[in-house]
Amino acid sequence: MSKKVMILPGDGIGPEIVEQACRVLESVNTKFNLGLEFVEELIGGASIDAHGEPLTDAAVERARGCDAILLGAVGGPKWDTIDRAIRPERGLLKIRSQLGLYANLRPALLYPQLVEASSLKPEVVSGLDILIVRELTGGIYFGEPRGIRTLENGEREGFNTYKYSESEIERIGRTAFEMARKRDKKVCSVDKANVLEATILWREVMDRLAPEYPDVELSHMYVDNAAMQLVRAPKQFDVLVTGNMFGDILSDAAAMLTGSIGMLPSASLNEQGQGMYEPCHGSAPDIAGQGIANPLATILSASMMLRYSLAETEAADAIDAAVGKVLDQGLRTADIVTDGTEKVGTQAMGDAVLKALP
Ligand code: IPM
Ligand code: MG
Repeated sequence: MSKKVMILPGDGIGPEIVEQACRVLESVNTKFNLGLEFVEELIGGASIDAHGEPLTDAAVERARGCDAILLGAVGGPKWDTIDRAIRPERGLLKIRSQLGLYANLRPALLYPQLVEASSLKPEVVSGLDILIVRELTGGIYFGEPRGIRTLENGEREGFNTYKYSESEIERIGRTAFEMARKRDKKVCSVDKANVLEATILWREVMDRLAPEYPDVELSHMYVDNAAMQLVRAPKQFDVLVTGNMFGDILSDAAAMLTGSIGMLPSASLNEQGQGMYEPCHGSAPDIAGQGIANPLATILSASMMLRYSLAETEAADAIDAAVGKVLDQGLRTADIVTDGTEKVGTQAMGDAVLKALP
């Protein structure tokens, strides 16, 4: 039976990096006889330009019918001043929310070949392997009421609502515990329970779940401390679980530990196991169209897609191994280049991964 994959290139460097990931996917599709079928849709600024909105309902419906989705990135200066209700980012939030993609898995794994590319000392980061589990469809990103209103004195006020229900917390908590079971069996839940009620409840629910996972050790940390510990001694962590906004921030910090955010894939899963896969980085408008962006995070996202949504472990392993080989060969895009390695562009990196496939 054929499986459908939706491709959403998006904006900025999105189309360039997705192109390389698609070449890799098409190659393993043939080599491993996967029977994948690809459909493409617009998202973000590209969709605003074509349809006047960052993601059409028709595109969402089409996505619902697919087994998995591969996304590049959205946004750029061209749409920065647009009405905030139709900003490119809203397209991303819409697909996450409409498909119920609540579990965002952001692994920060340091390839041994890239130890020198990290801004931290080798002994601090070598062997780093942490997983950030970010809640993706709730919290302050979606809480109502929200808006910008004019007060009686004529001054304007921006406001958002930070809330989490018990069931939302429990659902992401279980994901974290279950992920930890397959790893080093440690979960650190990150909150701001010294100030924010929403996260007092968060901590309570995590504690309530813990006895159901006696093989996993649960700890709690305030988000400010977690940010500090991530750059001080990141190897103390195995799985970090947190809400939408804290997860957004901490995952960027964790990304840099690994040398470059250009290396980090992510998966966003719903309760049915359907998933959307995207690099953790953004659309990088400053380097868009120059052919220098790192396509590896997107290629690795394609591999995560094969592993988590399409049950094609062999093909996923092949892609991961090919990426390792290319790094062994000393090929580096500009974001990860160091002394003694060879700087290549987006397309050449894609070529090299293709050639390294079995
Ligand atoms: C991310 C991005 C998005 C987010 C933006 C583009 C809306 O930063 O995926 O981390 O904040 O979730
Ligand atoms: Mg982010």
